[in-house]
Amino acid sequence: MTALTADQSAEHLPRPARLSDVKGWFFTADQLLFDWFLSHQRDRSEAGDLLELGAYLGKSAIFLGARLGAGERFTVCDLFDSPAGDASNSKEMAKSYATLTRRAFEANYRAFHDELPVIVQGLSSVIREHVADGSVRFAHIDASHLYEHVAGDILAVRELLTEGGVVVMDDFRAEHCPGVAAATWQAVTAHGLRPICITGTKFYGTWGDPGPYQDALLEWLTARGDVWHEVQQVNGGPLIRLSAKGAKEPAHPVSRYAASAAGVAEGAAARSSKASPKTSPKTSPKASAVGPAPRPERGALRRVARDLLPPVVTRAIVRARKRSGAARG
Ligand SMILES: C[S@@+](CC[C@H](N)C(=O)[O-])C[C@H]1O[C@@H](n2cnc3c(N)ncnc32)[C@H](O)[C@@H]1O
Repeated sequence: MTALTADQSAEHLPRPARLSDVKGWFFTADQLLFDWFLSHQRDRSEAGDLLELGAYLGKSAIFLGARLGAGERFTVCDLFDSPAGDASNSKEMAKSYATLTRRAFEANYRAFHDELPVIVQGLSSVIREHVADGSVRFAHIDASHLYEHVAGDILAVRELLTEGGVVVMDDFRAEHCPGVAAATWQAVTAHGLRPICITGTKFYGTWGDPGPYQDALLEWLTARGDVWHEVQQVNGGPLIRLSAKGAKEPAHPVSRYAASAAGVAEGAAARSSKASPKTSPKTSPKASAVGPAPRPERGALRRVARDLLPPVVTRAIVRARKRSGAARG
């Protein structure tokens, strides 16, 4: 057994109080779509497991795990701190994911869920040795972003998906990884993948019939009203484009550390109001636990000015304000 270094010891493991505390790349439009696809499948009693290739510190995995049905299996595959298989993949790992460890992923995941997913630590190219063909209803491909790896992941996932299963490709149009775009559109034009929709970051498709998904998705988007969308024709079929700027995020799983973080914040608020009862703006415990300090309201600023400025200055300001109010009529 290898001894733990100081950085790996329990006290250094993450204790995220909210999903936003977990580092990663998982934005509102995709949160909404993951939530929609998984609920849509559940409402139709579509059986199948969940799969993620490339989990990093668990942001999207934690979200997926919260939507796992009874008796379903969630498999996560990542190299974590294992060596990559080739020089390009090693360079990609060193550049983008150097601080990643499996223990940090597990600590993050356990903050939100009692049980870990099935973890395959290794190259995504071995995934078919661990997941049964035809068993997955939703797969997220977000491991290596190099062409050869992504092309292989897409073909593996094609075999793993159920008939109407959905595959999601991350970064299918990002400037820094043209290989994902090449592999994605090649799957469409040469391997029968049918697009359902895209966001700025991810591509959603199926080897089944995309029509029922698209009809139901358009109905939902129209009813919501806060998600911009349009339909374009691509390769002889419709493709929904959407953007969720300003839209409300779906429900996040709750961390076991949420309450203690709120408690810490309450304690801090109580201490600061004792220290300076007149000048502390009222804060929500959550916001002061992990977010930036809220901006004081105008009323609070006035109170601070009244308490801190010499009376002669305050009276002069009040007189000036009265005069300008009278002038405005
Ligand atoms: C973009 S991150 C995943 C982000 C995560 N899904 C999220 O939303 O926060 C990519 C992950 O893929 C892993 N990875 C890179 N190359 C891989 C490979 N060939 N096989 C398996 N995992 C790989 C990296 O270790 C990294 O954790």
